[in-house]
Amino acid sequence: MSADNLLTLDGVHTHIAAYHILHGVDLAVPRGQVTMLLGRNGAGKTTTLRTIMGLWRASRGSVRFAGQDIGQWPTPRIAELGIAYVPENMGIFADLTVKENLLLAARGARTAQQIDGARLQWIFSLFPAVEKFWNHPAGKLSGGQKQMLAVSRAIVEPRELLIVDEPSKGLAPAIIHNMIEAFAQLKAQGVTILLVEQNLSFAERLGDRVAVMDNGRVVHAGAMRALAEDAALQHALLGLAL
Ligand SMILES: Nc1ncnc2c1ncn2[C@@H]1O[C@H](COP(=O)(O)OP(=O)(O)O)[C@@H](O)[C@H]1O
Ligand SMILES: [Mg+2]
Repeated sequence: MSADNLLTLDGVHTHIAAYHILHGVDLAVPRGQVTMLLGRNGAGKTTTLRTIMGLWRASRGSVRFAGQDIGQWPTPRIAELGIAYVPENMGIFADLTVKENLLLAARGARTAQQIDGARLQWIFSLFPAVEKFWNHPAGKLSGGQKQMLAVSRAIVEPRELLIVDEPSKGLAPAIIHNMIEAFAQLKAQGVTILLVEQNLSFAERLGDRVAVMDNGRVVHAGAMRALAEDAALQHALLGLAL
């Protein structure tokens, strides 16, 4: 079982200043699959992602990636393992152009010509707005276009694990469709994906596995399909109207 999990959290506790936020998070992210992390506002989803990335430190428990305990590693070293993280605020530089934002995310490239051309064309096909606004300041993009740019930055080079915090937040349906298609294509290329999501229909369309958090713990983990087909369980875990 554990051999198939690219990322595993065991009994992770995280404190932020004097606040005890995570209370023993157990989470398994199977290799090559899409895992959805759901839960009410304030459940601890973002804190879990930040703990994985070393932006907060677990005070107890372990974070393991490909068999290594990365719990005390600095964030840049964690990223170098091939983990891309798109935070809730998307981490875009508003004063830089779309192109410059993308170049900054490409470790090996100084000019657009140095980015793998086929990969860039593929990104343009997934997210046409990135090509359309290539030389525009990123701050002028709409919320949905910024999210496209943020995901483009995360995938400008091949990654083993992609972690995105609320990719569909505030997006129009047509853009949500683009996002789902992008993640589906990444999965088809073998990328392992962990997404925080509030939108259950988005989660159902992409997720293989699901973990639901409440009060700083994972309170349910299983197949996405089983949760999708069980309205009573959704209601119990997420408080959704039946
Ligand atoms: N920087 C912080 N300082 C103090 N409390 C925080 C901080 N960040 C998050 N929290 C608290 O931790 C809890 C979990 O937050 P978060 O992980 O952002 O939840 P979610 O992403 O599931 O909405 C919430 O009660 C939130 O108020
Ligand atoms: Mg959050």
